[in-house]
Amino acid sequence: MQTCRVAIAGFGRVGRATASMLLARRERYRDLYGTEVALVAVVGSRAGLIDQDGIAEARFADLEAGVSGPDVIAASGADVVIDAGPSDHRTGGPGLAYLIQALAAGHDAIAISKGALVHSGAALMETARATGAMLKVSGASGAALPTIDLIEHSLKGAAILGLEGILNATTNYLLDAMMARGIELSDALAEAQAGGFAERDPRGDVEGWDTASKLVILANFGLGAPLAIDDVRVGGMEAVTSAEIAGWRRDGRVPKLVGRLSREGETWRAAVGIETYCADDPFARVPGKTKAIRIATDTMGEIVALGCGEEPVATAAAALKDLEHILAARRRARGT
Ligand SMILES: NC(=O)c1ccc[n+]([C@@H]2O[C@H](COP(=O)([O-])OP(=O)(O)OC[C@H]3O[C@@H](n4cnc5c(N)ncnc54)[C@H](OP(=O)(O)O)[C@@H]3O)[C@@H](O)[C@H]2O)c1
Repeated sequence: MQTCRVAIAGFGRVGRATASMLLARRERYRDLYGTEVALVAVVGSRAGLIDQDGIAEARFADLEAGVSGPDVIAASGADVVIDAGPSDHRTGGPGLAYLIQALAAGHDAIAISKGALVHSGAALMETARATGAMLKVSGASGAALPTIDLIEHSLKGAAILGLEGILNATTNYLLDAMMARGIELSDALAEAQAGGFAERDPRGDVEGWDTASKLVILANFGLGAPLAIDDVRVGGMEAVTSAEIAGWRRDGRVPKLVGRLSREGETWRAAVGIETYCADDPFARVPGKTKAIRIATDTMGEIVALGCGEEPVATAAAALKDLEHILAARRRARGT
């Protein structure tokens, strides 16, 4: 039986859901991958736990002060590091230091937060290449909505001609509510915040930056296209008025906040903004908090995927799908 020691940096809603699910799936990892998976560290910004024998869920309520930072993760002996901390594409966020340290030491890493990938994706990929480590990013690129896995596995061999995505659940909910009930953005937003799925500061979602971040990650990690956030033409939905909504309803058009990657020869262009669709387009029928992606290929036609998992469990499950990719790859490398 092989061992795999996992550390989680960022122990909020998603980090905790990931930790609980990982512990609940240990028997599956033994059966399918011949691997004993132990959770050896969990850290927040100021407190955490470290135990090379494995941390049980009963201890999650009792974090120890001062146990935090990349050095704690290194001392835990973790060989897989999951970054579930806050996302900041301007600085890379705290995840950047955790990911660089793990990859530089040859340890595999799973990113859930987007900041480090957007800020330093190329450097992280280069570090991983140099040490032979794997860096998986499903949680940061649509989470339960398959995006990069779709490109890497289901569309293998096909050339990607372009893609468009409804990649932010909050803005889709807001536009859907405004269209269905004719309410103002401020009312839809208050509703979403009361429901606990819109941020207290919603600008990252509403102004299009979350979608732009996911586009950059999809471009770099899914298509091998070296796009930076400054290359994305970013528009949001903050200026959508009830008069515009009424006009779209009258004309039978459905607005969505869409991220689009278009190929012009060897160059990729990226844009985020409101696009409208006729009622029979699959994107027009993406409701509420559902996300969607449409990928145009040279040989497999157009593929559309939709997804709406309950958070934070769905994102935790996406990160643990990446863990299974890592366990499967390690098993293949062992030849067992
Ligand atoms: N929530 C979702 O449904 C969802 C979906 C997809 C992706 N994501 C992404 O997942 C990430 C986590 O989201 P969340 O909802 O779990 O956020 P959250 O509840 O705010 O948790 C963030 C965690 O990061 C910790 N943290 C902050 N600075 C840190 C540092 N320097 N070192 C270690 N930990 C640090 C915080 O610690 P303290 O507790 O000490 O403040 C907290 O435990 C975000 O990047 C988000 O964009 C979330």
